[in-house]
Amino acid sequence: MKKSAAGAILAVAFATVSKASTGNSNLTVPPGAVYIDPLMYDVVGASYTKWRNLSSVGFNPTNTVPPFIQVFDPSFLEVTGPSATIRQIASNPGFSFAHEAPIYVPDLNVLFFSNTGSGPLSYSGWYNNSVVSMINMTEVDMALASTTGDVNIQVETVNLPDTLQMVNGGTGPYKGDLLFVTSGRALLPPSVVLVNPNPPYNATVLLDNFLGRQFNSLNDVKILPGTDIIYFTDPSYGYLSGFRPEPMLPSQVYRFDPSTGQVRMVADQFVHPNGIAFTPDGTTAFITDSGMGGGSLGTNQTLPSTIYQYDVDPLMQSFKNRRVFAYIDSGLPDGIQLDTMGNVYSGCGEGTHVWNAQGTLIGKFYLNSTSAQMMFTKSGLVILNEEAMYLVNIQAQGIDLAAS
Ligand SMILES: *[C@@H]1O[C@H](CO)[C@@H](O)[C@H](O)[C@H]1NC(C)=O
Ligand SMILES: *[C@@H]1O[C@H](CO)[C@@H](O)[C@H](O)[C@H]1NC(C)=O
Ligand SMILES: *[C@@H]1O[C@H](CO)[C@@H](O)[C@H](O)[C@H]1NC(C)=O
Ligand SMILES: *[C@@H]1O[C@H](CO)[C@@H](O)[C@H](O)[C@H]1NC(C)=O
Ligand SMILES: *[C@@H]1O[C@H](CO)[C@@H](O)[C@H](O)[C@H]1NC(C)=O
Ligand SMILES: *[C@@H]1O[C@H](CO)[C@@H](O)[C@H](O)[C@H]1NC(C)=O
Ligand SMILES: *[C@@H]1O[C@H](CO)[C@@H](O)[C@H](O)[C@H]1NC(C)=O
Repeated sequence: MKKSAAGAILAVAFATVSKASTGNSNLTVPPGAVYIDPLMYDVVGASYTKWRNLSSVGFNPTNTVPPFIQVFDPSFLEVTGPSATIRQIASNPGFSFAHEAPIYVPDLNVLFFSNTGSGPLSYSGWYNNSVVSMINMTEVDMALASTTGDVNIQVETVNLPDTLQMVNGGTGPYKGDLLFVTSGRALLPPSVVLVNPNPPYNATVLLDNFLGRQFNSLNDVKILPGTDIIYFTDPSYGYLSGFRPEPMLPSQVYRFDPSTGQVRMVADQFVHPNGIAFTPDGTTAFITDSGMGGGSLGTNQTLPSTIYQYDVDPLMQSFKNRRVFAYIDSGLPDGIQLDTMGNVYSGCGEGTHVWNAQGTLIGKFYLNSTSAQMMFTKSGLVILNEEAMYLVNIQAQGIDLAAS
């Protein structure tokens, strides 16, 4: 009853204002996609907004059945192309197997990723490690080509050495290896680790402390383009999720040079620094602050759900000139990736949001549930959606994340 009432109000709002905005009325969007002209929703009245008093409720003013594509700006069509569709490629209800740490290995056409490091559907916590899995994109392509609907490709569990505890971030390939950051578990330290992408998946830990002090719970990682310097974020989610002791360091961002072993802090003043990304020229950095989501502290909508942008200091390679890039309207910004056109993608509460380089929200891949990370592959954009994975066959391509 609540829902249909909201739907009716939406329908009225839509009908009333659609005439006022004919500028893009002949916009041709991909099949099933919806054009949401921001001008239509600038003024909606008191009863309309009641249904969105929590950021965990997505913005779906056309009441379209997810998954679907929302176009907020015509330029998003350059991202999607004319015929992009969102299709499920794997699903495992009851197990949040597809959370974070996606690494695409082009030579194998395989995507590696990790499951959630806590929560009832993760089967991990203080006493249990999380798992890393892989999906074979060649198998995905073949299955999708044989049907117009969804497919369910079997993902394979990767048997990693015990040195990897609670993998949460990943990037690369790094000189041919997978580059993971782990959150650690109980008294086992968070770490930066290289893993062989081929069996036996042997690993080499590169870093597991800051001059003798354990990190809190490393969350995400990227390589500064054109270098082999590793940057990672360290929020306190391990503690706030009950699988790490009390944090002993501020929640901040670090730079690590594996060739000298030097590790240092490059950005602070966050609530929960989370995702990290660079522009391909290495001059600009992005950090997502998922401050709104406090783990055991609960959700606090007055805290940041914000993507910050920085200049990378050419001399020190620390971050400077912090400014707001975007504030997220649904859930919190988690992982972050860029395409070759400069558009910025972040995993949010209702799916993947996309902004252009100037910070204009241009579109969303709307799944109606938390989608922490995503990764570009030869087949398109893979979205990790906890108990499911989706592929959007967009024409935009991801920037090169590898270090050679
Ligand atoms: C609508 O279509 C006309 C004729 O094809 C074209 O000139 C115009 O640019 C289109 N408008 C938009 C906003 O796409
Ligand atoms: C949000 O709106 C719903 C539906 O109107 C209502 O039941 C709920 O109490 C509201 N929650 C808050 C936090 O205001
Ligand atoms: C979106 O998800 C919420 C639960 O999080 C559910 O109540 C709602 O019906 C879903 N909306 C649609 C359109 O499927
Ligand atoms: C930890 O693993 C054991 C054995 O697989 C399982 O029975 C238990 O439910 C898991 N604990 C949590 C918190 O998921
Ligand atoms: C992926 O699947 C294809 C087709 O079945 C197979 O030829 C290939 O060996 C698989 N790749 C890996 C890394 O398992
Ligand atoms: C895995 O083992 C091989 C053979 O010893 C070694 O050459 C390689 O460097 C190892 N890779 C990692 C990531 O530890
Ligand atoms: C939410 O965060 C603000 C800012 O830190 C704080 O003042 C407030 O007490 C928090 N609210 C709750 C309910 O924790």
